[in-house]
Amino acid sequence: MSEKPSKYYITTPIYYVNDKPHIGHSYTTILADVLANYHRLLDIPTHFLTGTDEHGQKVQQAADTNGITPQEQCDQTVIRFQELWKRLEISHDDFIRTTEPRHKTVVQQTLQDLYDRDEIYKAEYEGWYCVGCERFFTEKDLVEGSCPECGRKVDSIVESNYFFRMGKYQDWLIKYIEDNPGFIQPAFRANETLGFLKNKELQDLCISRPKSRLSWGIDLPFDTNFVTYVWFDALINYISAVGYKSDEEQFKKWWPSSCHLIGKDILTTHTVYWPTMLKAMGVEMPQSIFAHGWWLTGRTKMSKSLGNVVNPMDMIDKYGVDAFRYFLIAEMTLGQDASFTEEAFARRYNSDLANDLGNLASRVLSMIARYFDGKLPIPGERGDEESVVWKGIQNAVQTMERAIPEMKLDSGISAVLAGVRGINKYLEVRAPWTQAKNDDAEGVATTLYTAAECLRVCAALLYPVMPEKMLALRTSLGMADAKPHLGKLAEYGVLISGSEISQPGALFPRIELEKVDGASSSVKDRPKKSAAKAKEQKAEPSPEGLITFDQVMAVNLKTAVVLEAEKIDGADKLLKLQVDLGEEKRQLVAGIALHYTPEELVGKTIVVVANLKPAKLRGVKSEGMLLAASLGASLRLVTVEGDLGPGAAVK
Ligand code: MSP
Repeated sequence: MSEKPSKYYITTPIYYVNDKPHIGHSYTTILADVLANYHRLLDIPTHFLTGTDEHGQKVQQAADTNGITPQEQCDQTVIRFQELWKRLEISHDDFIRTTEPRHKTVVQQTLQDLYDRDEIYKAEYEGWYCVGCERFFTEKDLVEGSCPECGRKVDSIVESNYFFRMGKYQDWLIKYIEDNPGFIQPAFRANETLGFLKNKELQDLCISRPKSRLSWGIDLPFDTNFVTYVWFDALINYISAVGYKSDEEQFKKWWPSSCHLIGKDILTTHTVYWPTMLKAMGVEMPQSIFAHGWWLTGRTKMSKSLGNVVNPMDMIDKYGVDAFRYFLIAEMTLGQDASFTEEAFARRYNSDLANDLGNLASRVLSMIARYFDGKLPIPGERGDEESVVWKGIQNAVQTMERAIPEMKLDSGISAVLAGVRGINKYLEVRAPWTQAKNDDAEGVATTLYTAAECLRVCAALLYPVMPEKMLALRTSLGMADAKPHLGKLAEYGVLISGSEISQPGALFPRIELEKVDGASSSVKDRPKKSAAKAKEQKAEPSPEGLITFDQVMAVNLKTAVVLEAEKIDGADKLLKLQVDLGEEKRQLVAGIALHYTPEELVGKTIVVVANLKPAKLRGVKSEGMLLAASLGASLRLVTVEGDLGPGAAVK
């Protein structure tokens, strides 16, 4: 990493407990977790804070609807967040609830201090109030008479309230943002805040709510007829949790925070309210506030009323925690919006995790088991191919090192996956199965050791994203200390020859697209259509032995990647293959056992007749036929040149 920070303190927004958590909450929290993990594995002291925002109108309204007290509402809902974080392998160091005394005390002390220093004053307010946003607006702020933030109807209000002198910090804040380019990220969000600050006079902030209207909040210490505005209360969690006004040593250790991670919906509160509050308190600014984009369903905003909100628990139950974490982090370019569909999820999972990474792991481990009795072999001299594949992996290491501070995790992950594909290619080139046939034991040892070393580094780089699976993989590679150290990935030869490897089982079993919402129609229709076409046109040759173009086209040829291969008991010539046809997985039985070992087939791209009627060979179902060329006693598979992947039409 370019400049190693002396500590890393990362926060998520604290979530409202008016409803159960959804994919948006999960995303911010997983992202913070991944960043925290990366820093921990670089040996940087790390503190990761998340929690719940338990006061305010939204929570009170939810409690009223549910017929329970606000405290009961909080106590019941907070569990759902905490349980979800546990399932998502979130490694937060602290979880703050704003109803805890440690937080309430600090909020009240801060209010008193600001009141004593005339940073807070009482005044009569006349204006407009949005219940949804819990914010006041002037007549000028409104858009066509409605809330400028959410478009809801606003209520006319006249009441006495307490105000924080936010307006006086306007010029200071503009200058601070301009002088500190990394303060608000991405840069276009800083411009958004500056645009807002430069075009409008910054008003003072109403920080109280009369109890006659809202009782669920922290009492103002200087006037108990009022409770504190929920945002003024909530933002303080970032400092109350790390010892502000209670534990000076701890506070010094962690503050200023390295990164407040937020969604773009809460930019103004974090980039205008919070810095001005801190300035008035005389507390240092956070180092950065990073606003990520939104997860949409397809292209539509997720909303309860549209019924398109993705429930993280459902996804985890179906596909596993690590895969869910991987998809969210790999798919979203930080700062921009991203789209979640189950189909996109399944396709990315199959290509990145099942095909590229999972297969590589199973190939390498099973060949070590087969050729070296489950012990890591002693490699010979490294040649050019070994240098090339290792260079590719080191490129991934460097890309990831840059990606973390630059918040470009998706590009870091792409680089790792490119490295994984590089290892797969390396295996194709070195072909350890052929080396074995030629009795080149040292060659096989070098190839498999190199592949295992490269895989070790990839597993380390992906560990922060998929801790459980990558720990399993590293353990399988025989690493005694399975937790990686990310600062030491340039070192070659870390795996110890002779150490036992083990098989982790299928790390990422393929998802059958037929079972995935949205993907089923496209998958099922295609083979059916071509089968129907094939039926229409009788594939009989003319008397001269010639067939028509249509008859050729009736044969649906496709590329397929071999995922698994095994012998069939009692059938010397047959192998059973599981192949990936791009949009579906099939089982084939092929008479090639005398020409190929199961190991050398895995990962190969072959050509398959995809619309052949299924048949049973020796009682084993075969759903297609692979093409091979034979001459005399020799037989070689038909493959395609280059790297087309599965599912390509062969014409
Ligand atoms: N309680 C406030 C935050 C106070 S922080 C001092 C709040 N809570 S919230 O429950 O509404 O959570 C908002 C956060 O959830 C967003 O900022 C974002 O991090 C996350 N998301 C909610 N929906 C989202 C998407 N559809 N996509 C991505 N993240 C979004 O606001």
